[in-house]
Order: sequence, then C-alpha cells, then structure tokens
Amino acid sequence: MVHKKIAAYFKEHYNNYPTLIKAPGRINLIGEHTDYNEGLVLPASIEKGIYFAVSKNELNTIRIETFLTQPEKIEFQLNGNHESFNSFWGNYFKAIVEILVSKNYPLKGMDCVFGGDIPIGSGLSSSAALCCGFIYAITKISGKSISREEIALIAQKAEHKIGLNCGLMDQYAVLFGKKGNAFLLDCKDLSHNYIPINLDGYSWVLVNSNIKHNLAVDSEYNKRRISCENIVKEVQKIKPEIKSLRDVTIEDLNNLTSVSCTIDIKRAKYVIEENDRVRHMMKVLTIGDALAVGEILKKGHWAMSTEYEITTSELDTLVKIGEGLEGVLGSRMMGGGFGGCTINLVRTDTLNASIKSLLLQYKEQTGIDAEYYPLAIDDGVKVFE
Ligand code: GLA
Repeated sequence: MVHKKIAAYFKEHYNNYPTLIKAPGRINLIGEHTDYNEGLVLPASIEKGIYFAVSKNELNTIRIETFLTQPEKIEFQLNGNHESFNSFWGNYFKAIVEILVSKNYPLKGMDCVFGGDIPIGSGLSSSAALCCGFIYAITKISGKSISREEIALIAQKAEHKIGLNCGLMDQYAVLFGKKGNAFLLDCKDLSHNYIPINLDGYSWVLVNSNIKHNLAVDSEYNKRRISCENIVKEVQKIKPEIKSLRDVTIEDLNNLTSVSCTIDIKRAKYVIEENDRVRHMMKVLTIGDALAVGEILKKGHWAMSTEYEITTSELDTLVKIGEGLEGVLGSRMMGGGFGGCTINLVRTDTLNASIKSLLLQYKEQTGIDAEYYPLAIDDGVKVFE
C-alpha cells in the first residue's frame, strides 16, 4: 500500500511520526467543460489518491520529497525563495507558496513526503489532488486552517498560474467528495448536494486509454474557454444582463448566426446541451434507470467528440467498442479531454467478459494496452488514519 510506504519512508528519513493526509482523484459522471461557464457538473472523489506524510520543522523551510514518478526533492524558503528547478509538481507547489505568501498567510516550516496512485494526465485530476492536498497540509501544519472553499480557490489560482484556465469542478470534487456519493455542483453559486450512484446489478468502471494529456501545455482547453467567452460577449450586445453561458439559450445562439464565428457557436451549443444532460442524468439516476444513464453517457461522449472536439481517436474507439458490447450500457471520456480515461456503466454479471473484450479489441485496433480500474468512491481530502 502506497500510503504505508510513504509513512515508513518519512519515519526513517525525518525521524518523526508524520500526519498522513489523503487527497483523492476525481471522476465526473457528466458535465464536461461546463464549470467555467457557471454550469452544472456531477463529479465524485475516488479511492485513488495522493498521500502526504507531513510534520512541522523548525527550519523556516518547506522540505518536500517524492517518488511519485521519479525520486525528487525540493526546498522552499518561507519567504517564497527557492533554488530553480524543473519539476511538474514543484511548479504547482511553488505557485501555491507564492499565493500564500502574497496573502500574508503565516507559513511554518514543514517536512513532507508524498506519493500516490492516481495516474498522471489521465483525466482523474491528479493536479487538483496535488494542489488541494498540499494546501490542506501546509495550512494544517502552520496552525491557521482555512476553509475548504478558500483552499479550492487557491488551488484554482495555482492552475491558472501554471497556464490552465480551469473552472472549480476538480477542486470541489477533491475537497467536498463523500464516500459512496457523487455530487451535483452548481458552478454558478457553488452550492452542492450529494446523490448515491449505485445502480443495482451494474458497476462503474474506468478504462485508461493510456493516451496522456497535458492540458496546461496544450492550449486547446483554454481555446474552448475563449470560444465560450466570445459568445457571452456577443449575446451581451442584445441581452446585457447575461453573465455566462449558463444564462444563454439555444434561441439566443440562433439569433447570433450571422455575426459570430461558427466554431464558437457550435461550442456554446455543446455547453448548453451538456447542462441539460446533467439535469437529465440527475433525474434518471434518482429513479435508478440504468439504461437511460448509459444513453446519456454515450450522447455526452459523442457531443465532446463532434461538437466540442476534445476527444481523441483512441477515446472514440473505446466508446465505440463499448457500444458493440451487450454488457456495456454506455461510456464517455472524462475531464479536460485529449486523452485519459473513460467512465463506463457495465452489467455486473458479465463485467469480466465485457472488460476483457473491450481491452482486447482496443489493443487490436490501436496497438495500445488500456488499463481498467474498478471505481470506488471515497471521501474528499482528509487526515488518513
Ligand atoms: C479539467 C478542468 C476542470 C473542468 C474539466 C472539464 O479537469 O480542470 O475545471 O473544466 O477539465 O470538465
């Protein structure tokens, strides 16, 4: 178990018993690219996570070590200074330390060893887990805790500094998740309520296409956001009270056709319809209609593929193969796009045969080995006993 390894490493190298904190990854049932449009999302936090073994030190230094992808060690001074480095996670933590320093947050020295089992760049929000877990840890150690809402905003700001103009879905999922439940987050007012997603006789599984994305480097994500903002600006010329795509209707879009870029309109239409899919998903989940759930997953996927254009041929292949398998009710790509995992609703009695066939056909058609993970929904960031 990765958390035991981390705690043992900490004890051996830092001569202290650490506090162990877990920050989970997240899935999303439906509601993709709606969060930065003040829309609706239906995510959940999962068992896979990043574990931080931490304790206070008296050195005025934050010492961080990991064997997440390779052994690495970075130190930050409490005034925000640091030696230059080239590290994926180090860039996020640097951004966080800088944000906390700029807020005059009273940081204290901390030793930290972290690692985990969320595959990086696979649509399971490893970066939100890294950021939210680190902020939770450093503020706990420093003795001045901050609210989860505030942690989410700082983590989002760190992502923006790195270059991804993301919404707040991932941070909220990582911080507010509850075992056994997904939750409907309304990104307009950030209100949320929990909903159990167990469907009798069916299982949720994740399939990793093993195509990794790097959303912060690849600007396609940000381009989608700009398209949405362009349309809001256009609609505002007619309806100045409009603040986001959440308040734009298909009719508003139809009135724009002559003045706006057709790609932007197509993308805005996707977002409006995706919000409808979230509402519909809530209804069918509540009555336990597994077939309807599967249909929404498929519709959502193909809309991301043909309208919003954020999938890859490999992800489309996974979904298409699923459509040909009797035991798979539906599947869709999750997260920012351009790689990562699909979420699948599968009949439990034929689960093994379905997955075997899915992985085999994927290998035949793409030459790539996909991986499969059963989905377990766990609590949001917390001290891990
Ligand atoms: C990434 C972003 C989120 C959200 C999803 C797409 O995970 O971090 O804010 O926009 O993509 O739904």
